[in-house]
Amino acid sequence: MDEALTDRELTDREWAHVERALVLARRGWGRVHPNPMVGCVIVRDGRVVGEGWHREWGGPHAEVMALADAGAAARGATAFVSLEPCRHTGKTGACTHALMEAGVARVVFGAADPGEASGGGARVLREAGVEVTGPVLSSGEARRENPPFFHTDETRPWTALKLALSLDGGIAAAPGQRTSVSGPEVDRRVQELRAGFDAIMVGARTARVDDPRLTVRGPIPPRVPPRRVVVDGRGTLGPGARLLAEEGGAVQFVTTAAAEAGWKRKMEAAGAQVLTVEGADGQVDLPGALQALRSGGVGALLCEGGGVLGSALLSEGLVDRLYLAVAPRFLGPDAVPAFPRVSGPGGEADWEMAAEPERVGADLWLTLDREG
Ligand SMILES: NC(=O)c1ccc[n+]([C@@H]2O[C@H](COP(=O)([O-])OP(=O)(O)OC[C@H]3O[C@@H](n4cnc5c(N)ncnc54)[C@H](OP(=O)(O)O)[C@@H]3O)[C@@H](O)[C@H]2O)c1
Repeated sequence: MDEALTDRELTDREWAHVERALVLARRGWGRVHPNPMVGCVIVRDGRVVGEGWHREWGGPHAEVMALADAGAAARGATAFVSLEPCRHTGKTGACTHALMEAGVARVVFGAADPGEASGGGARVLREAGVEVTGPVLSSGEARRENPPFFHTDETRPWTALKLALSLDGGIAAAPGQRTSVSGPEVDRRVQELRAGFDAIMVGARTARVDDPRLTVRGPIPPRVPPRRVVVDGRGTLGPGARLLAEEGGAVQFVTTAAAEAGWKRKMEAAGAQVLTVEGADGQVDLPGALQALRSGGVGALLCEGGGVLGSALLSEGLVDRLYLAVAPRFLGPDAVPAFPRVSGPGGEADWEMAAEPERVGADLWLTLDREG
């Protein structure tokens, strides 16, 4: 898949346009999923004459938006697109067609489109006499930009684990204690993050201690509110839990045969769905749980802790991305650990930076992808 390496001969100027297309693409976060985020820049005689991005699921694609922005200036221009232009007529017309109609002379694209129906746009353009350069991103770079779109494993969703931790690796000051580890800026970032996922998941103890709502309350209204999932193998949460009272995505409890039938009925009566999967001693079989979520339409899953659930997912090799907010403080020896028992083959994986480390308020925001 790394045919991109042969096509990397771009000037610095051209790379800057590709990067700008990637920046524009990211504006679609939370609004276009499960479609990919795509951005496009139209350049004529070294000058940017049009920009666009895929703003809404089902809405015009990035190329169409950028062409509209460029108008007549698109004739003879170069289009820099973060993803290979699609060649099929779906909810909107084929982008290959739009580019040719507008008289674009050259297309530089970032990632190859793996889609059976949409892929192959580069060939169509070449056959029509348009000069095409791409893919200029490696498959790893492409995946990093649109991970759920490139996730082909049908046995589970693309899964991210997000935790806010102290310098000494704590996520709460003491067991049973709700603690604001990171600052308000990180809270806002998390709200934005949630908008791009199909489901938000927490462990039973986090649900018991923090009583979270798990709704999206940030600046990005999600196209579909993410489902709220609690891994509660023994059936411990009560119908008074806040997430049941609060309007938002569907609430789902993943449990095992260890939970009482009466509990299931009670939770269903309170509006929740109860999903019973395999398990031992009241602990949910996590691959089975993720498979069930995937079959139920969850393509991208965000686990927000706690440490025990996150570590179990990591140990089983079920986490693709880590979002870590590191707060500049110590929580001390009584703290609840972020990674209490990561072991096994999953624990031996290496992680690489998927984005530049970023200062968010007083905290450090890290985005890491599992290697390989
Ligand atoms: N700073 C942060 O980012 C952050 C995020 C989340 C939570 N927290 C804090 O962390 C604390 C709770 O975290 P925690 O690590 O103690 O617990 P946790 O990960 O939230 O929950 C673990 C519990 O989930 C249930 N579970 C069922 N099947 C499981 C499986 N296969 N693997 C793992 N767990 C399974 C079990 O419930 P049972 O106990 O019923 O058997 C288990 O004890 C709270 O104090 C909370 O405030 C902090």
